[in-house]
Amino acid sequence: MSGEFVKAPFKNVVLRWIDDRLPVLSWAYNELVIYPAPRNLNYWWNFGSLAGIMLVVQIVTGIVLVMHYTPHASMAFDSVEGHIMRDVNWGWLLRYLHANGASMFFALVYIHIFRGLYYGSYKAPRELLWMLGVVILVLMMATAFMGYVLPWGNMSYWAATVITNLFSAIPIFGDTIVTWLWGGFTVDNPTLQRFFSLHYLLPFVIFAVVFLHLLALHQFGSNNPLGIDLTAKDKIPFHPYYTVKDMFGLSVFLLVYGFFVFYAPNAFIEPVNFEPANPFRTPAHIVPEWYFLPFYAILRAITFDFLWIVPAKLGGVIAMFASIFVLFFLPWLDTSRVRSARFRPVYKWLFWVLVVDVLVLGYCGANPPEGWYLVAAQIATLYYFVHFLVLMPLVGKLERPLPLPTSLREPVLGAAPRPQPAE
Ligand code: HEM
Repeated sequence: MSGEFVKAPFKNVVLRWIDDRLPVLSWAYNELVIYPAPRNLNYWWNFGSLAGIMLVVQIVTGIVLVMHYTPHASMAFDSVEGHIMRDVNWGWLLRYLHANGASMFFALVYIHIFRGLYYGSYKAPRELLWMLGVVILVLMMATAFMGYVLPWGNMSYWAATVITNLFSAIPIFGDTIVTWLWGGFTVDNPTLQRFFSLHYLLPFVIFAVVFLHLLALHQFGSNNPLGIDLTAKDKIPFHPYYTVKDMFGLSVFLLVYGFFVFYAPNAFIEPVNFEPANPFRTPAHIVPEWYFLPFYAILRAITFDFLWIVPAKLGGVIAMFASIFVLFFLPWLDTSRVRSARFRPVYKWLFWVLVVDVLVLGYCGANPPEGWYLVAAQIATLYYFVHFLVLMPLVGKLERPLPLPTSLREPVLGAAPRPQPAE
């Protein structure tokens, strides 16, 4: 942890008695009350705590939903659309909070990731913090994918079929692996039950990794918009400064979340998912949830065999997984020693081109892989990898960064000496 471990100054004798024997309260005091945070954090630093709150919301609403849900292929659809949505008191609210909560959670985490990319928060000494973040992202994706299957609507069924089938592209063992994943020869009840089990388990694994994420964060403290290393003078206690700022951010976020839950609860739900799973009725366009669309576009962009050895389907699967796993290597792919894009005139532009590139991928992923959509997806896929594997290492070496301030006060007061108080 950064700084000395300070014992929480409890007046209450019971709390002091507990804390002397099990210092969890002092631990929370050090991490959440007196934790020294940079003075200059902007609102982009709100998204980590918002993501943490959404993780708790998803776990709590999920646990109550499970009390009314039936994980069986012949009953799952009715238990959600019939029972939870219509019979259970406030069941509709729980379900809409959970289903829209997943979208909100991803939106927050994507903003959180792009904040890290802009301000170079993945660079030394925060490499492991970043890598734990990528682990969380992969776990979130697995959790969301399996959760989407649980209502057993027709899109749930076909999304599960398409995605699990990807593993059949693995040479030699592919088909065996897919049969093993399904627990049979098609997506069916055994698949639903194991997805249910894992969907319940993984959020707790995510919780544990988030704990490590915070431990790693507090080892060196937060990065900041200037990306420079700070002295103790440039820091302020987390409480009340950032607890208040986080509360404000939470209030704004709840307006957005509430808007979807109460006014547009089905905005993110595919109409096809209001039909029960039907192996005999393949939807015209099988599309995943919006947060998977860029990766889905990369998967379908590889329509040609690669170097005559890698068949197109396997190539697509490799490209899709590579697009996530490349993030693990970012701390070493970015060769610049300057963290914040504010002082990196070329990287700043590349960052925005990447944002547009990911949006283009998302748009292509929502459309059929043909004509211009396919061409655009292929160009955007190529650019995605060129950004990380070629431009990042090169620009880091070639770009001439702007002069960095030596302290937080310099950009505000200039390099001039601080005015002295009157005698
Ligand atoms: C369940 C998901 C996640 C939760 C709850 C979470 C939570 C947090 C919190 C509370 C912070 C400190 C506040 C802040 O800087 O915003 C933080 C910082 C950070 N997180 Fe996450 N995080 C999550 C996912 C991720 C992911 C997916 C990545 C990257 C792939 C990531 C990378 C980082 C980095 C680099 C920092 C340090 C930022 C800085 O100091 O500039 N996090 N995270």
